[in-house]
Amino acid sequence: MKKSLITGITGQDGSYIADLLLEKGYDVYGMVRRNSTENFERIEHIRDSVKLVPGDLLDQMSLMKLIRDIQPDEIYNLAAQSFVPTSWNQPVFTGEATGIGVTRMLESIRYEKPDAKFYQASSSEMFGKVVEMPQSEKTPFYPRSPYGVAKAYGHFITVNYRESYDIFAVSGILFNHESPRRGKEFVTRKITDAAARIKFGIMDTLELGNLDAKRDWGYAGDYVRMMWLMLQQDKADDYVIGTGEAHSVREFVDLAFKNAGFEIRWNGEDLNERGIDKKSGKTLVKVSKKFFRPAEVNHLLANPAKAYEKLGWQPEVSFDKLVQMMVDGDIKRYEKLTK
Ligand code: NAP
Ligand code: GDD
Repeated sequence: MKKSLITGITGQDGSYIADLLLEKGYDVYGMVRRNSTENFERIEHIRDSVKLVPGDLLDQMSLMKLIRDIQPDEIYNLAAQSFVPTSWNQPVFTGEATGIGVTRMLESIRYEKPDAKFYQASSSEMFGKVVEMPQSEKTPFYPRSPYGVAKAYGHFITVNYRESYDIFAVSGILFNHESPRRGKEFVTRKITDAAARIKFGIMDTLELGNLDAKRDWGYAGDYVRMMWLMLQQDKADDYVIGTGEAHSVREFVDLAFKNAGFEIRWNGEDLNERGIDKKSGKTLVKVSKKFFRPAEVNHLLANPAKAYEKLGWQPEVSFDKLVQMMVDGDIKRYEKLTK
């Protein structure tokens, strides 16, 4: 039985890769950091099948000990301070966890299990103010947030340990991926959660920032298959993962609210723009300055040709299906809560 260690198992991707590895018959260890209250919601359904072990990306010895004790064959480093706006408020912490945390993991592997295979969760946020469209493995980085800068460090240190110490270390440059398990601070889930709440009359208006930002949104369940595939190759290599299709936040709002039974008409411009329900005339969405970022990433679009060709990977869930799945998930939750 192969052993895997997942950091960030309590997060969206960690929970999906844990599902996948259990299905494949792995012995699954998940690293969890100490919190004042447990946050195991996303892994509740597999709680008895995974082994939760304590550790923190900020604490070198905890990582060393884990790898020494477990001797994992595969390590998925999904833990990070992953919310972009927080990275401006806590840039040093973000650098420590999201950037230097990767070096701590790699150092632990180098000393304790140098033949383990290592997956690093890199991000399209590294492309930031993009220098070409679409973005591939060859596109230079231009990060626009402390988070993006920290991820660029994490990417290059992964490549460096592969080249310096011959560690099987790969970097998956993943574009935005979402699911019903997505954190509610990210824009997609914020929208689907609000659409459901408004439907049940427990919220009136959703406030958002930049409606023109475009993202290449895919489904997390599809993307974790790719993480696993990257570690099954003979040669360690880096891949861009995305759908090759981008949509604006405004389009996401339109579709999400449509799935919740509303039809939005847009009115006004810039900070005065409103999303109005055609039937009732109520304002369902308004723009608020507080959700704009100091430096925005306007348009991300993946060129996943290398992953398609070399790994035979293709996403299975379309944009429309993804939005529908997320809205349905939130509607079901509020249905139960309001019964
Ligand atoms: P997420 O839901 O925010 O989960 C982040 C995980 O990291 C949580 O389990 C969190 O634990 C853990 N964590 C944070 N700081 C830690 C620390 N100091 N030590 C140990 N664990 C820590 O993120 P996600 O969406 O699943 O993303 C997974 C990874 O992929 C992240 O590295 C993210 O930056 C990257 N990524 C995500 C996307 C995307 O669109 N989802 C795209 C590209 C790259 P707690 O539960 O204790 O907070
Ligand atoms: N969160 C949020 N909240 N974003 C908003 C809002 C709002 O109210 N209004 C507009 N947006 C815009 C943001 O300005 C951004 O351009 C876009 O929606 C997406 O924001 P997020 O969903 O927060 O994701 P992100 O693209 O910043 O970062 C996510 O994807 C990265 C990969 O590109 C995160 O998952 C990162 O961890 C990941 O690396």
